[in-house]
Amino acid sequence: MTTSPLKDLDQQVESLLATIGALTDAEALREAEPSITGKRSILSTLQKSLGSLEPEARRDAGAELQEARRIVEAALDSRRAELALVARSQALASDRIELGDVVVENVRWPVNAGHPSLVASTQRRLEDVFVAMGFRVSEGPEVESDWYNFEALNIPPAHPARGLWDTFYVELGDPETVVLRTHTSPTQVHLMESAVRSNALPIHAVMPGRCFRRDAPDARHLATFHQIEGLVVDRGITFADLAGVIETFTRAFFGADISSRLRPGFFPFTEPSAEFEITCTICHGEGCRTCSQTGWIELGGCGMLDPAVLDAVGIDAEEWSGFAFGFGIDRCAQMRHQIADMRALIENDVRFLRQFS
Ligand code: PHE
Repeated sequence: MTTSPLKDLDQQVESLLATIGALTDAEALREAEPSITGKRSILSTLQKSLGSLEPEARRDAGAELQEARRIVEAALDSRRAELALVARSQALASDRIELGDVVVENVRWPVNAGHPSLVASTQRRLEDVFVAMGFRVSEGPEVESDWYNFEALNIPPAHPARGLWDTFYVELGDPETVVLRTHTSPTQVHLMESAVRSNALPIHAVMPGRCFRRDAPDARHLATFHQIEGLVVDRGITFADLAGVIETFTRAFFGADISSRLRPGFFPFTEPSAEFEITCTICHGEGCRTCSQTGWIELGGCGMLDPAVLDAVGIDAEEWSGFAFGFGIDRCAQMRHQIADMRALIENDVRFLRQFS
């Protein structure tokens, strides 16, 4: 009786598994692989030697050898995966990463992945101040029907007050005129309508968002800009509440040395209306070129809600009163950071952007 060529198979498998376990990196594994499972490996040599066996013995030995090979290959695969993991965490730790064929050296973690724009971070700060004052934040659509942008705000078609807003029209055909909103005031209308529907008066809300006007950009204007609208509808609200909110906000956002003032103004949806100005942050009220020597900078408009607006959304003006205000977020960013030309906000010059990370 000839001895089986597989008589030492168990030990041989053990020894292959030990070899695999001792491999310390992917490169070593790649080099060792032919000698473990390749044509000149012990497994292949044994395979060839089975040819001399009787058919039945060959079948049994073949099955045994196949099982041995499966065990060895599985051990190789799992060692490969382990080593890849180790290599990855070593690469992360050593400031070197491989992305396919590209090797990046001296990586500093975390990789600088950018940051919110100055306008976005200004908006967030404004929201924080108003939330701390008891307002909630709401948003509305950027494309509005004529009714929301104008009519519900007491600006009928062909009214000369429309000239206050140079408007982009969206051509969707009949039945309604559609515009890119020229201010955030239409969001007031949405909010009041939904409060009426769900019986959710009073309202204390601010509404930030993007607005559009057919303006040529200059040092203080952009055709796409941002406003934040404020709306209070409650019982017994007076102009003193409006002035108090504006002053409290101004000091909280710009600092205790900056104050606000209201000057008579006109908006079709508020009565009385006012323009809202703050101490010029560049000269601190001394007078300079930016504020045209007045010491004050105009930020936006405000006023007591016109009863015609309350009527248009179905709020009883006998029971409820309120005020609204709206001002430029971009202008706030400009004032807070003394930016001479607002166009810097949209030019994407990284040297400018990086200052506000
Ligand atoms: N919507 C006005 C504008 O953009 C500002 C404003 C808001 C005025 C609320 C009064 C009340 O010019």
